[in-house]
Amino acid sequence: MKLPILLLSVVMVACSNDPAPSANSEQAASAAVAALQGSGSASGKDLYAACSACHGANGEGNKALNAPSLTNQQSWYLERQLLGFRSGVRGSHPDDAFGAQMQGIAKTLPDDAAVKSVVAYIDGFKAKPAAATLTGNAKRGADYYSNLCGACHGPNAEGNDKLQAPALAGVDDWYLLQQFDHFSKGIRGSDESDRYGYQMFMMGKTLPDAEVAKDVVVYIQSLAD
Ligand code: HEC
Ligand code: HEC
Repeated sequence: MKLPILLLSVVMVACSNDPAPSANSEQAASAAVAALQGSGSASGKDLYAACSACHGANGEGNKALNAPSLTNQQSWYLERQLLGFRSGVRGSHPDDAFGAQMQGIAKTLPDDAAVKSVVAYIDGFKAKPAAATLTGNAKRGADYYSNLCGACHGPNAEGNDKLQAPALAGVDDWYLLQQFDHFSKGIRGSDESDRYGYQMFMMGKTLPDAEVAKDVVVYIQSLAD
């Protein structure tokens, strides 16, 4: 009876084409952890110095390191994600290499007050929509978006804090696509204790395939001003 499980995991490994963290990104992660250790009651600005190697001096992100821009997500969402990484609700799945990296860093932030200060500092960056990197059928994406996503993420992908559904417009398209893929495969959100991630895990099954997911993200990107 062990064979089918073994086969299944082989297939899952074969299908997982996510890049593993590069040597550069591993180095940046260790440097950030070292900088945050003993950072005590450092200011948001000082704490953010440990983040800038990956997320950029102005929160603009770095695709080569798989680190998204942080200037188009709402503060409540950034804070909740950091707390999720800290509690292990996000970034614990064995196939979530980048989530694990971010979890290690978030856990080194001294306390919840430090999470608040670093988020307040990020909130001061000027929001600049991330540049489009994908092409696809935005019209087809729009149909799927309004039927399946808009109720929570808002008609203009501006987010809805009552539902804890984040803004998506302006966030890196490659990142949204990767996160959607992770939700659909259960790499993110499949643990029922992840109250909000679990909702997205269920939604991850609603788009027929990766091409449609790309069209939806291309449409979302077109909503950024
Ligand atoms: C070694 C590079 C690296 C450093 C340093 C780093 N991050 Fe990250 N961060 C990442 C990566 C990679 C992801 C994407 C994780 C994933 O794919 O789930 C991420 C994701 C995030 C997210 C989730 C964003 C979203 O929309 O889902 C937040 C919030 C975040 N980082 C904040 C920070 C803060 C604050 C710091 C400094 C205390 C920091 N990061 C330092 C690499 C880094
Ligand atoms: C039932 C409400 C709901 C619906 C419908 C929904 N979402 Fe979400 N979505 C959420 C919530 C809540 C989160 C935050 C998850 C978390 O905290 O980990 C989220 C997060 C996301 C993220 C991660 C963003 C980031 O920066 O980390 C993406 C991408 C996303 N949704 C895409 C979609 C797409 C595409 C659709 C339509 C197919 C959709 N969502 C439909 C509630 C919803």
